[in-house]
Amino acid sequence: MIEMSFKHFINPIETVKKMAHYYVKEGQTVVDCTVGNGNDILMLSELVGENGIVYGFDIQSTAINKTKDLLTKHGLEKRTILINDGHENIEKHIKGKVHLVVYNLGYLPGGDKNIKTKPITTLESIKKALVLLHNNGILLITCYTGHEGGLIEKKEVKKYLKSLDQKKYNVVEFNFINQKNNPPILYGVEKL
Ligand SMILES: C[S@@+](CC[C@H](N)C(=O)[O-])C[C@H]1O[C@@H](n2cnc3c(N)ncnc32)[C@H](O)[C@@H]1O
Repeated sequence: MIEMSFKHFINPIETVKKMAHYYVKEGQTVVDCTVGNGNDILMLSELVGENGIVYGFDIQSTAINKTKDLLTKHGLEKRTILINDGHENIEKHIKGKVHLVVYNLGYLPGGDKNIKTKPITTLESIKKALVLLHNNGILLITCYTGHEGGLIEKKEVKKYLKSLDQKKYNVVEFNFINQKNNPPILYGVEKL
């Protein structure tokens, strides 16, 4: 295992945190499409403040329940709406516009590796999330290519994002191209 150290170029996980801190303002509505162990939704619910809302999706009730406990422990449960449903059904649960949507694809760390995001539902969700985004809203997708199916999912995500009209969206890829061991890749979409 190669130790990864970063100076000014930070990895996708840290980039998502930095972008969220820079972008999210109090009172905003944001979405975590893959709640998992709750790390991202915890950060987001602090950033939106008491008048903001964070929606969180996960298909695993264990992830939802664990995250509910985590948010309650931090006194943040009132500003979060946890949804035990697939993110491909995002439009059934969210009616208004949102400022930020994050995805951390793959399987739950420490959980069942067979329960993971899938290209078809991931793409369905991304397409619907782009409709829900405010103008100037941001969508961030962290992809992992080291597990079975992960590379295909990343390729499908990239193919779709590459097809987006540049007059309507800016799309970037953050990818450490000289690292071994399949580092995560981050895609960012800004709706114009
Ligand atoms: C890499 S983990 C997310 C880690 C999380 N961001 C955290 O901070 O711990 C991916 C999660 O996506 C969930 N997932 C898989 N398919 C999903 C779907 N269709 N809709 C919503 N969540 C899904 C998995 O159950 C898993 O918990």
